[in-house]
Amino acid sequence: MSAPKLLILYGSQTGTAQDTAERIGRQAQRRRMQVKAEALDSYNVTLSSKVTWLFLCIIFSSPPLQNFWRFVFRKSLPAGSLCRLDCAVLGLGDSSYPKFNFVAKKLHKRLMQLGASVLLPVGLADDQHDLGADGVIDPWLTSFWERAQALYPTPAGQSLISVDEPLPPRFVFRFLDDVTENRADRRRVPEPLISPSQTHTFPGRVVSNKRVTHASHFQDVRHIEFDITGSDIEFTAGDVVMMRPCNTPEDVEQFCQLLRLDPDRQFTLSPTNCDTGSVPARLAQPCTVRHLVESFLDIAAVPRRSFFELLATFATNELEREKLSEFNSAQGQDELHAYCNRPRRTALEVLTDFPHTTAELSVDYLLDLFPEIQPRSFSIASSLLAHPNRIQILLAVVHYKTKMHLPRKGLCSSWLASLDPTQEDVYVPLWVKKGSMKFPKDPYSPVIMVGPGTGVAPFRSALQERIAQGKTANVLYFGCRSQSKDFYCSSEWEEMEKAGQLTLFTAFSRDQEDKIYVQQRVQEQAELLWDLIANKNGYFYIAGNAKQMPTAVCDALKEGFQSQGGVSSAEADEMLVAMERAGRFQSETWS
Ligand code: 2AM
Repeated sequence: MSAPKLLILYGSQTGTAQDTAERIGRQAQRRRMQVKAEALDSYNVTLSSKVTWLFLCIIFSSPPLQNFWRFVFRKSLPAGSLCRLDCAVLGLGDSSYPKFNFVAKKLHKRLMQLGASVLLPVGLADDQHDLGADGVIDPWLTSFWERAQALYPTPAGQSLISVDEPLPPRFVFRFLDDVTENRADRRRVPEPLISPSQTHTFPGRVVSNKRVTHASHFQDVRHIEFDITGSDIEFTAGDVVMMRPCNTPEDVEQFCQLLRLDPDRQFTLSPTNCDTGSVPARLAQPCTVRHLVESFLDIAAVPRRSFFELLATFATNELEREKLSEFNSAQGQDELHAYCNRPRRTALEVLTDFPHTTAELSVDYLLDLFPEIQPRSFSIASSLLAHPNRIQILLAVVHYKTKMHLPRKGLCSSWLASLDPTQEDVYVPLWVKKGSMKFPKDPYSPVIMVGPGTGVAPFRSALQERIAQGKTANVLYFGCRSQSKDFYCSSEWEEMEKAGQLTLFTAFSRDQEDKIYVQQRVQEQAELLWDLIANKNGYFYIAGNAKQMPTAVCDALKEGFQSQGGVSSAEADEMLVAMERAGRFQSETWS
């Protein structure tokens, strides 16, 4: 009997779904299954190939607008067309967002409609309770395996592979020793900041990096500008720029020391089997250890559960082995959370806590242990019409304290903030993605934008673009703590106001005893807003990272609908829903 096959498709924006997919993939391998885990956007679906795979879909919150999604939701697909498919859907959502796990539920329903045999109810995990240990994934997986194994039993004569035994790595390393022979002459191998095989990135030159909050202000916000001359990058207001951070040189050094790796050593990678997938394109071969650690392995992130599972298989020191097996047990999840997630301990810090095990790690497992550094997205804060060949962003440098001795830093924001534009040739590989926010083409439709803090970034872009197009009906609500400390871009707003291109309302939360927030200003301006929205076809936008802010702003807006338009609370709700459907109410929030 041949090995049963499992196809795992994941839709991931943050790497969480990929990590979960890979973890489940390893569980399947221990059950002697042949596993293929692939990103939804790269999976090429056809109905013609006979489906003999058990199929598991893991989806993060937002709808994947790719081949697979289009294929499955094609209207012409007859009911029953997936009747030979055994499948299951696991959603990884965040209950603090509206439409919790909506994509997973929708897919689950659709697969049933198409006649697929769905093994169990859709799994609805919640990021708010830590995806790894939220009490949803593990029980869901237990049921999944029970059903999967009943249908696809382990081939006769073969037993499960024990969790104490490491599975084969996905890739093997081959070191090119000749490169390191002449140590006296050896210089650091130049690292291209952009991997030549990454076809869609452009090396944006950092031409400005200015702190825009007062030095005494708690938060460091940067205005960073990239020169993109020579690229064919185009974008409009609402689009985002994507980039991947690098690990700090100190972390790279420490990591190499812990694992006794020579950073200048070069290697090539090859997949251990055909289902492993190809060598990541960003690791141009041959590659140095430094390049791998600096720009690929996410050693500064809080490690996921799969990291501990794999690490445990290398533990020979008794104390360390005991601790790791506790972390991997169902009962040990609270302790793991307290040790790792709550204090935001990094993978590198965990390695320093398990020195014996770390010393035992085989280099071949590096790509199994550490996920790839994920790209980060930033709202573009400028317009090509006002700043040709430039991309500007407003970046809040992430910095906070936990019980860990060293303060926690955001990898990407700290890295970007550290780039020095006065040095020659400081490049960041970047690319641009369409954003979800769209601004009206109609020159007469007024635009009302609520963007406290760095939430103002897409609105700065929109204002520059709209003003260059002669669209002057613009209202901006900006909120910050203090007029003198973090009221960035104020002189730009002033100029626009003077030129009759902008009406600005500000809320300085801490310049007086009682806090004032943007929603209060929205409330105060009910009459103006009603006129712009109800009589002039106005568009309303919210962007920002304060979790409660969007709801509070919506409530203030709806209150205004009631007082000005004489509508009931339910009618005000409906008005906002109708505006949203028509693209006249849009919000983009992040945490
Ligand atoms: P605070 O930090 O003084 O509470 C940009 O971060 C601005 O958004 C700050 O003035 C911040 O105020 C404010 N802010 C924080 N929470 C908010 C909320 N729930 N609604 C609106 N603004 C908020």
